[in-house]
Amino acid sequence: MESYIYRKVITACATVIFAAGLWGCEPEPETTSVQKEGEVTFKERYRPQFHYTPPEHWMNDPNGMFYYDGKYYLHHQYNPFGNTWGHMSWYQAVSEDLVHWEHKGVVIPEEGNEMIFSGGAIVDHDNTSGFGDEGETPIVATYSSHYSYEGEDPDFEQAQSLAYSLDGGETFTKYEGNPVITDEDPDFRDPNVKWHEESDQWIMVVALPIQRKVAFYGSENLREWEHLSNFGPIGSTEGIWECPDFFELAVDGDPDNTRWVMHVDVSPGAVAGGSGSQYFIGDFDGTEFILDEEATSFEIVEDAVDEEVLWTDYGTDFYAAISWSDIPEEDGRRMWLGWMSNWEYATAKPTSPWKSAQSVPRTVDLISVDDEIRMAQSPIEELQQLRQDHQQIENFEINGEQISLQDQGISGKAFEIKAELDAGSAENFGLEVRAGDKQETLIGYDVNSGNLYVDRTNSGDVGFSEHFPSRSEAPLDLNDNTIELHILVDWSSVEVFAADGTKVLTKRIFPHPDSRDIRLFSEGGEANVVALDFWKLASIWD
Ligand code: FRU
Repeated sequence: MESYIYRKVITACATVIFAAGLWGCEPEPETTSVQKEGEVTFKERYRPQFHYTPPEHWMNDPNGMFYYDGKYYLHHQYNPFGNTWGHMSWYQAVSEDLVHWEHKGVVIPEEGNEMIFSGGAIVDHDNTSGFGDEGETPIVATYSSHYSYEGEDPDFEQAQSLAYSLDGGETFTKYEGNPVITDEDPDFRDPNVKWHEESDQWIMVVALPIQRKVAFYGSENLREWEHLSNFGPIGSTEGIWECPDFFELAVDGDPDNTRWVMHVDVSPGAVAGGSGSQYFIGDFDGTEFILDEEATSFEIVEDAVDEEVLWTDYGTDFYAAISWSDIPEEDGRRMWLGWMSNWEYATAKPTSPWKSAQSVPRTVDLISVDDEIRMAQSPIEELQQLRQDHQQIENFEINGEQISLQDQGISGKAFEIKAELDAGSAENFGLEVRAGDKQETLIGYDVNSGNLYVDRTNSGDVGFSEHFPSRSEAPLDLNDNTIELHILVDWSSVEVFAADGTKVLTKRIFPHPDSRDIRLFSEGGEANVVALDFWKLASIWD
């Protein structure tokens, strides 16, 4: 465990040293929570109201997401004993609508010298694993065992293991034959499995973080695995690679035109600083992932410059996303959520008695953009059931000033906005959300640089980490001089979707609870609100 944390700190230091030419790097303090441990109310300061959080304690990556028998399962990295990283175990939450979650508790616990690191889960419909008796459908979780050894010289530190459930996901048993895959590289983790119809086998993608590679393994029974190929290093390679996901999607909804998406996290060195995610588009032949250079304008080079990287999210807080498996065919959506945090300040965030949140579930699609193909994300439709107090404004001028929308009944702490804004003659325009006396989070568009941005420099409590105050930007072309924004704001987060979901910015914020104002602004000229729809969003915990 120590060497894992050590390696994380070292890689974080390496970026700081590289960027600032400095030597010496202090690890983040264990915790700087401004609140005392207390009763769980789901109304605590900064508690997200429509994003998943555990009642208490530390959470990181989503794990083992699958659908079975009318229920969506979400597991996540969890410390059962405290509000900082450690004792990693899988905690389970279950939902019937992907919006309201029932907390179930730890289902795969740390035991002895083995922590339970990230991974996936699938429904083994044909009992290929043989874990089930006649007529039973096993659910099989693939996770990384992270072993600590006292004084011994280990053959391996991280290895891939299985746990199975024979009661539809309620309880899991660790497989007695664990681990099922080992490697001499001490960093080898986050296995994610899919059934590959064409080659009639299970495919596992698993990260070799330090090598910046994703390894492919194949299996007929989930117990015995054969190494098939490696992908990488390519794209963003400054930080380590973690938590791969791999799935096939139709382009523009056309089932006859599909591509495979390789999704992998990088930490640090991502587009907004620290942790983030990149994706690759290509084909899979049952052995190897072959990059589609035409669809991505991507040259196969070992150290691609930043412009060549396809970033999943341009904000600071979307990491380790993995998708639900076994979504029924008649639904057909690929959906995921990501950890709304960043290893640069994850432990320092000012929340208690829990730490971290997951993003809202999002659909993931591939769409054509000019001659290329891009990933598009959108909040799932199920979230619309939370909408309340609809307000609308149209053709509203922003005349080089700040205009509060309070009089229009538009303000709040948890809400959704869909807006079409015309740049007019402005150089900079947009919205201020969670605005108060001396604070605001800016969601704006800078006409000169052509960037959509979210700026949390002055968003509230930003002092707990030097990495936190920041402005994140995504390149975005005006369309007929307008931009369309879909914005979700919660008690401690902002998610912005633009350009049909091909540009997304996710950022945590910690504003004062009284900062509820929503304002429009423009600079250097007039901008215009073509239309703006606003809804308050109800709490999923009531
Ligand atoms: C990513 C990660 C994974 C690992 C887990 C440990 O955030 O570092 O690679 O499995 O967290 O909690």
